[in-house]
Amino acid sequence: MKIVGTVAAMRGVSAGARRDGKRIGFVPTMGALHAGHCSLLRIARQAADFVAASIFVNPAQFGPDEDYTRYPSDAARDLALCRGEGVDCLFMPAVAEMYAPDRSVAVEETALSAGLCGAFRPGHFRGVLTVVAKLFNIVQPDVAVFGQKDAQQARLVQRMVRDLDFPVRVVIAPTVREPDGLAMSSRNAYLGPAERKRAACLSRSLRLAAKLHAAGERDTAAILGRMRESIAKGEPPVTIEYVAAVDWETLAPVARVERPTLFALAVRVGPARLIDNALVGGVTPEGRPPCRPTIPCHGDTTED
Ligand code: PAF
Repeated sequence: MKIVGTVAAMRGVSAGARRDGKRIGFVPTMGALHAGHCSLLRIARQAADFVAASIFVNPAQFGPDEDYTRYPSDAARDLALCRGEGVDCLFMPAVAEMYAPDRSVAVEETALSAGLCGAFRPGHFRGVLTVVAKLFNIVQPDVAVFGQKDAQQARLVQRMVRDLDFPVRVVIAPTVREPDGLAMSSRNAYLGPAERKRAACLSRSLRLAAKLHAAGERDTAAILGRMRESIAKGEPPVTIEYVAAVDWETLAPVARVERPTLFALAVRVGPARLIDNALVGGVTPEGRPPCRPTIPCHGDTTED
């Protein structure tokens, strides 16, 4: 596995892979890798001949009171996991390599980013899209893989690729879960034992949404009400930031489940802000059957 830290070196590696006729698959990460990232790397491997990953904790996507300075990190473990997954090249730039001190250009999306996490983390998706655009320009992948756990991020990247004509296929991969349903996340490391147990309330509420839908409920207010009740039960207390039902395509709130609908939530459990979601109902735009909520699909969608 090649490890490179400069834009020029990464570009050189990608150019070499291309000269050898290889398709490049790419998984951008912020490190503190877990089984969810491994699954993204495996999907990239299936879709491409050369797998590149990046580890870069992107300061531009953290708010001033967020966890940038304490974001979990374990470089030795990350390298071992990447080697184990057969990553061909790992790009690990320093902040100064990625951002000029007087930078003044960013990527801003104005529709899909308005709600859900976008409403609670001002500037977050601007930071995400800017760094993903830069990474796409540096790595020049044919295929990039993002996890459905960060569904809004993944949909925004698809929108950016469409609207700015990046020649990249964006694959959205199923969320990988712990045995009790908790979605894998680097931020799960913030949870103490009681909080860790309590954190299963997110996926439990999503399973409830799916069960209600399967029983014929289509009114999202009724489903969301039951989800909130289910999350509120138990100790230690948790704080719901949002629980929402939005259209998969537009991410706009929906009153009834008539098309593929994303039930999404953000909940603070102790020091951790956790997010999760499930896609419920309808037939996907590609004519696929409805997704199973605890193993959401849309495993291979490109926008439009
Ligand atoms: O999902 C993440 O880890 C980050 O938001 C990403 C896509 C690597 C951009 O910094």
